[in-house]
Parts: sequence; C-alpha cells; structure tokens
Amino acid sequence: MVEFLQSPGPIGVFDSGYGGLTILDSIRNVLPQYDYVYLGDNARAPYGSRSFEIVYEFTRQAVINLFEKGCHLVIIGCNTASAKALRSIQMNDLPGLDPKRRVLGVIRPTAEAIGNITKSGHVGIFGTDGTIISGSYPMEIKKLFPHITVVGQACPMWVPLVENNESNNDGADFFVRKYIDNLLAKDPLIDTIILGCTHYPLLYPKIRAYLPDHIQIVSQGSLVSNSLKDYLYRHPDMEESCTRGGTCEFYTTESEDKFRGSATVFLNQSIENVHRVVLD
Ligand code: DGL
Repeated sequence: MVEFLQSPGPIGVFDSGYGGLTILDSIRNVLPQYDYVYLGDNARAPYGSRSFEIVYEFTRQAVINLFEKGCHLVIIGCNTASAKALRSIQMNDLPGLDPKRRVLGVIRPTAEAIGNITKSGHVGIFGTDGTIISGSYPMEIKKLFPHITVVGQACPMWVPLVENNESNNDGADFFVRKYIDNLLAKDPLIDTIILGCTHYPLLYPKIRAYLPDHIQIVSQGSLVSNSLKDYLYRHPDMEESCTRGGTCEFYTTESEDKFRGSATVFLNQSIENVHRVVLD
C-alpha cells in the first residue's frame, strides 16, 4: 500500500483539461472556506474519444497524484472520466490505495437532480463520444427514475471549439445547431437537456439561442457543488480531513503559461499559482 499524508489536506478537483474549472468555480462559490488543488491533464486532453483503458489509466494516475498532494477527497470534474474510470477506481483501486479516501464524480449528482426537473419525462444529454457511448447517464438516471426516457447526443466538435476559444464566434453556430437538431430529431418530447461535459457551459449562450424556449438546460456546476456540500455535511470525518484556508493551487501536465492563459477564459479571472506536473 502506498503511504499518503494522513494530516488534513485540500480538496482535489481533476479534469482532462480546462472544463473542470467550471466545476471548481461553482464549488468554490458554494464552499469558499476550503483549500483546493486543481489538476488538468492538458497535455493528454481531450479524453473524449479515448478508449476505456486509457481514460481509466490516466484518471488513476491523476487521482494518485492528488492523494500524494494530501487530498483525502477528489472530485472527478470530468464527465468522460466519471463515465469511464470512476467506478473502477472506487471498486478496484481505493481499497488498496487508501480505503478512507474518497473519489466522487459528476454524473451521479446530475442524475439525482433530473427527476425533479423534467415534466415530460424525456431528457436529452449532450456529451463527448466517450460519455455517450458509455451509457452512464441513461443507466444512472434509470436506476433512480425508471419512467424517464433518456436520449444522448455525442458532440465531438464542441470541446475543440471551446479549447480553441471559438465558443462565441460565428463558426461555432453550425455545430451547435447540428447537434441540437440531431438530438431533437431523436426525441421531440425532450423538455430538459443536460450539458454532460464540463466544457459545454462556455457554449451556453449559443445552445440557449438555438434551443426552443420550453427546453430547460441543466448545467452541472451548481448540482455538483450543492451535492458536495451535502456530502461533507453527512460525512463529518471527511469534512475534518479538508483544510480550511480558502486557497487554490493549479497543476497542469502542459506548460504553466499556456494553462494560465486559457484558464482565464474558463474562470473569468487571472490566476498565478500554476505548476507543471508529470503523471505516470
Ligand atoms: N470536460 C470533459 C468532460 O466533462 C471532456 C473533455 C475531453 O474530451 O477531454 O467530459
């Protein structure tokens, strides 16, 4: 068994790249008192079209790295990694790494909220290829709300548009409309749509503009942060393992300068404390 620091530490948030910053931002708004460490595997992103084995291996490396940085609790702020790696890490790795540490994802808290939002009982999911092919959303939602019909649409062009800072430009319109039309053609009764990728909130204005008014859009940030607040309330031992200093450190597998520049777009503020890390 690897020895990790037992003293309290920051909460870890992981994403393949920048998308998890939208989750971190919401979490810090709801729970500003804790310390946070963000890790983006930018050098190996996107994960969206990678195989199960690779996403699992990369995510496992990131989780271990965050444990080594003192985190007792890690949030996988990436749908693709939550869909493809979270369960294996929870079941197969945590018992051997440290059974007291916890790794949580973004799909379950989103699924839990859906039953109270849809009226028609027809829900659409936008996600990466990996998230949609995994079938994780329909599975999680059906476990909780068997009467809800769930239809997915992969949007492989949306992450590249966001990563290249094209979200607000005219070129993005074509692909926003294309995936919306595809999804609604599959099920015209959809009244609720989940943005099942942490990059997609940056495309929100265009998605909103092309969707019929009666369709609600569910972004994950507030669902995940409120669920985390509730989790810490229900697990006082874990809450005591989280230090309270209000700080945030950023780690990236890419260059620090590149991360600093792009992170500004996701957080709408500039950041300084960025460090490069090697995962293996
Ligand atoms: N942000 C990730 C998600 O929520 C996807 C980005 C990627 O393809 O790596 O699924």
